Amino acid sequence: MDTKSLRINGKRLRSTLEEMAEIGGTPAGGVTRLALSDEDKRARDLFVKWLKELDLEITIDEMGNIFGRRPGKNNELPPVMSGSHIDSQPKGGRFDGILGVMGALEVMRTLHDSKVETEHPVVIVDWTNEEGSRFAPAMIASGVWAGALERDWAYARTDINGKKQGEELARIGYKGKAPAKKWPVHAYFEYHIEQGPMLEREKKTIGAPKGILCLHWYDIYLEGEANQVGPTPMEGRHDALCAAAEMILKVNELPDRMGGNMVATVGEIQNYPNSRNIIPDKVHFTVDIRSWDDEHALKAWELVKKDFQDIAARRGCPIRIEETWRVEHAPFDQKLVQMVMDSAKDLNYSCLHMVSGAGHDASYMNQICPTAMIFVPSIGGRSHVEVENTTWEHCEAGANVLMHCILKTAAAR
Ligand code: GLV
Ligand code: MN
Ligand code: MN
Repeated sequence: MDTKSLRINGKRLRSTLEEMAEIGGTPAGGVTRLALSDEDKRARDLFVKWLKELDLEITIDEMGNIFGRRPGKNNELPPVMSGSHIDSQPKGGRFDGILGVMGALEVMRTLHDSKVETEHPVVIVDWTNEEGSRFAPAMIASGVWAGALERDWAYARTDINGKKQGEELARIGYKGKAPAKKWPVHAYFEYHIEQGPMLEREKKTIGAPKGILCLHWYDIYLEGEANQVGPTPMEGRHDALCAAAEMILKVNELPDRMGGNMVATVGEIQNYPNSRNIIPDKVHFTVDIRSWDDEHALKAWELVKKDFQDIAARRGCPIRIEETWRVEHAPFDQKLVQMVMDSAKDLNYSCLHMVSGAGHDASYMNQICPTAMIFVPSIGGRSHVEVENTTWEHCEAGANVLMHCILKTAAAR
């Protein structure tokens, strides 16, 4: 069949996304569907039910990654793969991750309805714990699958309540039997909201990122000396929170000091015992540094690490630093990026060549197979917040581009 005129069903995609948004839905219109929570389980169950309706061959691996395989004419050929993640940030949005999974599902449904036969098999995937918010780091299960991270290290990662990732996987019934181990993939496409302001600013419908910035994560642990705040004089205090406050500003100043293209953020902090009338004696905070230039990001870290050590020494607050996770910048396959741009053009959608500042499982997939992403605009450039939004028209457009990229790559030998 001539698939050129084939289009996905935008209404069906919308109702699928709306149904998913109810799972973990927040009163302010966002979702909280943390990795391996009860909400994640409910969303996975629904996803698996939808995969079964399409007669896909379902595999759940030992990291809880869910794959649905649609056979091709030649099943010796490696599959074309597409998907993203079902988990969300706390009070996150209704599109981050889930759009890429439901978008790929909508493509599968369209291929199914139209009885399209592809040369290569096509696989849809939900990667476990992309966000890294409950269990750090992010993209952990695609990282294990791609061979970049260790499975048992991943299992041992704990959340803020001391729950282990491996145990939570088993608890929700998604610790599968299949090895979380890469197999040959012909091409990987990840469809996602932009999560930034560029597409809206440039009035473009589709974004074709040339790749993803590097991501470097650090965990800082400070110790101070707790005491009653009233009788304890200001001089001679060892206030762990004050030390952290100075350090946090150093992180914020880092991109300016370094110059070049980079961002640096402290997004998470725990302060103990967290009482207004006790001098804090324990603080944990996180550092996130991103750049297109891995070396630049490493130099920035060395600079700020030295600041941290100086501040800790001056304030008499012992410091422990964990270099938690690094993923290199991911320059995507140029042919596939061009295919995204060409497909957008063929479908009469405007398109922007850009970079992704957000991390995606596509970073790890890019290490093992030709990879590209498809972005659609985020209204107001807002994401990881409850007001995160994308028009239904744009959701439909991105899914059409995804489908045509899948059709083209799955047709070629
Ligand atoms: C993933 O959501 C990220 O931190 O970019
Ligand atoms: Mn995402
Ligand atoms: Mn995210």
